[in-house]
Amino acid sequence: MATLIGGLGTSHIPAIGGAIHKGLQQDPYWKPFFDGFPPIRDWLGQKQPDVVVMFYNDHGLNFFLDKMPTFAIGAAPEYNNADEGWGIPTLPPFKGELDLSWHLIDQLIAKEFDVVTCQEMLVDHACTLPLKLFWPEGDCPVTVVPVCINTVQFPLPSAKRCYALGKAVGEAIQSWDSDKKVAVIASGGLSHQLDGERAGFINKAFDLQFIDSLESNPEWATRFSIHELVEKTGTQGVELLMWLAMRGALGAAGGAQLRRVSGNYHIPISNTATAVLALESV
Ligand code: DHB
Ligand code: FE
Repeated sequence: MATLIGGLGTSHIPAIGGAIHKGLQQDPYWKPFFDGFPPIRDWLGQKQPDVVVMFYNDHGLNFFLDKMPTFAIGAAPEYNNADEGWGIPTLPPFKGELDLSWHLIDQLIAKEFDVVTCQEMLVDHACTLPLKLFWPEGDCPVTVVPVCINTVQFPLPSAKRCYALGKAVGEAIQSWDSDKKVAVIASGGLSHQLDGERAGFINKAFDLQFIDSLESNPEWATRFSIHELVEKTGTQGVELLMWLAMRGALGAAGGAQLRRVSGNYHIPISNTATAVLALESV
């Protein structure tokens, strides 16, 4: 059976793509963010995952307001990136992992998560940036199964539901008949709000408590309604749902079965409180 090696989380601000393109990793504005990655890359170098399951939210590139699935899974041989209008370079296609895609889809639908299946799927900065951040050199060495969670158009799935989705994804990965190594990634957050009267809103105290809870009490954030999460983290801060799904995939158990490899929190990049984290399944 496949091995689930652990979970990663990172923020996904489009400007990061511009900074990578311009080689600004050592620039004083960017350094505190990029410095979070080398320890995690070292760990990935040791663990050598073959496949990643990416929990992310599309921002209007593949799904627009006219058709907005709550949960959608890619089942494509490759995923194209395209211009989203942020002025960042588009990237070459990413390779899919068809067998795992369909295994996840079968298992999730059997567990009553009625996901949309996408045999063609454009992937935006939320899917491409984590891959570039964790594997900056050359071609991306992992294949990808994108799992898209709606955080754009209300109503959004609850924190409890996203955690349960993650748990079902983790169980499906571990029942996949393959000798491959799989990592789960959360792309999004933490607190930020791009628009409206609270544009620029950041909540450091909540973010730090949330990151701690992922290790010590992963169900902590599932007590909050979506509207409470928007109030506490901003309209786009609800992207922390991806982190709950990622943590759900690693299993219900707390610290004993997880090791924190490395983590970083930095405020702000653009409008966003950024976080990076790696948790190893032990
Ligand atoms: C920003 C953050 C996001 O999560 C996003 O999808 C787009 C922009 C920002 O802070 O600029
Ligand atoms: Fe976003």
